[in-house]
Amino acid sequence: MGLSGQPIYIMREGTERTRGKDAMSNNIAAAKVIAESVRTSLGPRGMDKMLVDQFGDVVITNDGATILKEIDVQHPAAKMMVEVAKTQDSEVGDGTTTSVIFAGELLKRAEKLLQQKIHPTVITEGFRKASAKAIEILEGMSIKSGIDDREGLKNAAMTCMSSKIVSESKDMLADVSIGAITAIAEKSENGNWVADIDKVQIQKKEGESIDETSLIKGIILDKEVVSPGMPKIAKDAKILLLQSAMEIEKTEFDAKLQITSPEQIQQFLDEEERMLRTMVEKIVNSGANVVVCQKGIDDMAQHFLSKAGILAIRRVKKSDLEKLSKATGGTIFTNINDITQDNLGFAGLVEERKIMNDSWIFIEECKEPKSVVILIRGGTELIIDEVDRAIHDALCVTRDVVEDQKIVGGGGAPEIEAAIQLRKYAQTLGGREQLAVEVFADALDIIPKTLAENAGLDQIDVLMKLRAAHQGGKKFAAHDLETGDIVENMMAIGVVEPTVVKIQAIKSATEAASMILRIDDVIAGVKGAGGPPGMPSGGMGGMPPGAMGGMGGMGGMGGLPPGMM
Ligand SMILES: Nc1ncnc2c1ncn2[C@@H]1O[C@H](COP(=O)(O)OP(=O)(O)OP(=O)(O)O)[C@@H](O)[C@H]1O
Ligand SMILES: [Mg+2]
Repeated sequence: MGLSGQPIYIMREGTERTRGKDAMSNNIAAAKVIAESVRTSLGPRGMDKMLVDQFGDVVITNDGATILKEIDVQHPAAKMMVEVAKTQDSEVGDGTTTSVIFAGELLKRAEKLLQQKIHPTVITEGFRKASAKAIEILEGMSIKSGIDDREGLKNAAMTCMSSKIVSESKDMLADVSIGAITAIAEKSENGNWVADIDKVQIQKKEGESIDETSLIKGIILDKEVVSPGMPKIAKDAKILLLQSAMEIEKTEFDAKLQITSPEQIQQFLDEEERMLRTMVEKIVNSGANVVVCQKGIDDMAQHFLSKAGILAIRRVKKSDLEKLSKATGGTIFTNINDITQDNLGFAGLVEERKIMNDSWIFIEECKEPKSVVILIRGGTELIIDEVDRAIHDALCVTRDVVEDQKIVGGGGAPEIEAAIQLRKYAQTLGGREQLAVEVFADALDIIPKTLAENAGLDQIDVLMKLRAAHQGGKKFAAHDLETGDIVENMMAIGVVEPTVVKIQAIKSATEAASMILRIDDVIAGVKGAGGPPGMPSGGMGGMPPGAMGGMGGMGGMGGLPPGMM
């Protein structure tokens, strides 16, 4: 109470606050809901989700990151779980479902420890140690792979696509993805391989079937050959990349030309023609048979180029010209007088092709394509988008193996192995931390358990059998969900994953779970003071506009007439 008897407000009126146990159990409950929502989609036998956004657009997918990106989550702890998936996706590109399920399970089991009055910081410290140890175990059990291990690359790419809707085409999509990554991978100065996914462009075009999806070692331009008289195909193309226009430049100021006789008009036109002819002659002399121009090409110049059998494209984007320069090794010229033969770009093939109703220029078989294009085909947009997501995962996984050079067997084998070894490690710790590490180990089992459950198998039965196999020294024993058999070595049947995917899943899940466990006070500010963006978009849908005036969250706007909303 102040002197005047007025209460003192520390926080803005309407602020919601939950503390202590309530805050924690709310957060854990929200996080578990998120984990639960993707659980059934894990693994090759997982189910797909159909998501409909507020505009009615439909997405059908099995991809954890996509599912969580599409659902509009409000609860702050639930949002943190969505972040787990996003981190996993941006760091390694696969294993998003795994990481979220694991984070949910960690929290579920931590809750039991909290009920036994174990302090959250003891739990998070135990989780930190367990996570570090688990990573060590995963590193230790890994097999060496890398860019030269084509079999390893192919198996990893196929495994990550076997859980996608388009898995029937995984063989061919894996080849396309591996072809793309190996084409753009570069050895850095310290001898490590680096593959930058941004150098792989994705173009989508409805029509044909998924199997028509192809890798273009070069670039596709959404352009046509400029004149019908020109060739539509050029083999062993020597490409002139031109930034300036092939036109007679207009003066910058208004000039008046006094023409007094018909001959003078002719002279004027002849001079223009002569200048354009000289331009084209210079190009012909350089040996170029393809011209890619950022600006316009005059009709007369087009005519001369056609006569010389040169294929020309005009008004190409600057960024495309730069990409072409990289891919073909050609210099971008601003002045035709500077052209030299050595600085032309090279491509094995330049061709205009009709894809559905559009004509595109394909510039392929470049010497050192520092950028490549994957042209995705498919019957409908929904399928094409899912192929895109599958290829994204395959590209990431291939990059992971190329860069990190380590793989493990899949199907939950690494998780079972790590859990077994962690339990042994826990015994060396003693005390309450031991409990936390054991809980962490138990949480790892959720992956093989969920994989089995989604395939309609008995979780406990499968887990017992697999543990026995692992204790007998079979570190990659797991259940092959395609055949339903227990396999002693998943690697032998080609179910393979990059080690970094497994490690990152553990890292991001542990971080998120620990962060959620350390929160004992949730202070939620007044929503909506800034207008509609702060409103919970889901819940408001059915309300008549007038109802908004009474909402606490809209405090600042309560006085506005409904029409103003
Ligand atoms: N033939 C198979 N038998 C058993 N397990 C398999 C098989 N193929 C893949 N898996 C396993 O399925 C799991 C991956 O499933 P899924 O791709 O649905 O989830 P994710 O990779 O965690 O998430 P997302 O791909 O959505 O980012 C991995 O544990 C992988 O080893
Ligand atoms: Mg996956």
